[in-house]
Amino acid sequence: MRSSEPGFGIYLHWPFCKAKCPYCDFNSHVRHQPVDELGFAESLARELQWFAGQVPGREVTSIFFGGGTPSLMPPRAVGHVLDEIAARWRVSHDVEVTLEANPTSAEARNFAGYRAAGVNRVSVGMQALSNADLKALGRQHDVEEALEAFRMAARIFPRASFDLIYARPGQSLADWRKELSRALEEQRGHMSLYQLTIEPGTRFADLHARGQLQMPDEDLAAGLFEATQELTEKAGLPAYEISNHARAGQESRHNLLYWRYGEYAGVGPGAHSRLALGDDRRAIVMEKHPETWRQMVFERGHGVAEDTIVPPAEQASEYLLMGMRIAEGIALDRYRALAGRLPDEAKVVALEKGGLIHRRGNRLTASVAGRRLLNAVIAELAL
Ligand SMILES: C[S@@+](CC[C@H](N)C(=O)[O-])C[C@H]1O[C@@H](n2cnc3c(N)ncnc32)[C@H](O)[C@@H]1O
Ligand code: SF4
Repeated sequence: MRSSEPGFGIYLHWPFCKAKCPYCDFNSHVRHQPVDELGFAESLARELQWFAGQVPGREVTSIFFGGGTPSLMPPRAVGHVLDEIAARWRVSHDVEVTLEANPTSAEARNFAGYRAAGVNRVSVGMQALSNADLKALGRQHDVEEALEAFRMAARIFPRASFDLIYARPGQSLADWRKELSRALEEQRGHMSLYQLTIEPGTRFADLHARGQLQMPDEDLAAGLFEATQELTEKAGLPAYEISNHARAGQESRHNLLYWRYGEYAGVGPGAHSRLALGDDRRAIVMEKHPETWRQMVFERGHGVAEDTIVPPAEQASEYLLMGMRIAEGIALDRYRALAGRLPDEAKVVALEKGGLIHRRGNRLTASVAGRRLLNAVIAELAL
């Protein structure tokens, strides 16, 4: 990883999707009327102006268009938002500009336009390399179409990543090893590999409650995670975060900013921000509903639903929660400055003995085994 200086990032949320995937609980909406895309981009630009008044003088080190499905944005809308950022802040000469893309052929047609607008990294939602499973996941693309879109992205953008979801209903260890090996032949330096989680309120949660999803048991889930570590390490893409794998230097700078507990502005419906103001840290959450958010921006220049100061003890918990996800872990002196104390020594020793964490000088890190059981590890350390 290049630098441990977190920097200042801007997240932009595009809340629309062609269809709602049955596992997804992100703030994503399907509209049966055409979306006023340029109008929405203009609202994002207006909210950026509000942020520039709150946190002027920063140097932007990363920008991330997330969703929803930002690859439904016309390239002109992406360009408009990027121009607004450049007009309001200094932008680092090597800024990382990522856009999340769904791999349908229609969306791939926008790639060259995004590149021309200034996007230099894409994260493609491949999800599975099995047509039957893509169908079960409610995806709008098949494997061939997705691979074609990804290969095209890799030709157009300097950096391209893709996401896969594993531990899917009915998936065996042998199936996943085969699928991941194939994925590793396609990767270009970065992959996000997520274990399927059943999120409350989704269609998968209903099916699960009715016993209609055959989810992996604890042993199989552990085996799938271990196989993921083994195969990605062998291929030179070790995990730098629980679910994120990269060749050295190819880590997502924007996501590292979150995990390093840096400063970022979250623009658009439902977006979260953490801003540094002197010693204070401010947490902002935007209104989730897209059209309500837009009306608020129209009336007052922003869609802020919550704006609070995070007390130091809470900052310490957030820092621990974020920092222990990444291979580089946390800095103990920074934790102590926030929490007013170090984690309990007896607990640290017990976790070290159990092989779940490591302590080296000022840094505390979770081992691979510890990262799989992270909630339990953090619960111990935070006490
Ligand atoms: C919010 S989605 C946006 C990306 C894009 N719309 C897409 O679907 O490809 C970001 C990523 O989160 C992952 N994801 C979403 N819901 C998940 C779940 N319930 N379990 C595991 N991964 C999930 C998917 O891999 C997805 O690519
Ligand atoms: S997974 Fe992506 S495409 Fe599917 S509903 Fe969620 S945000 Fe939309």
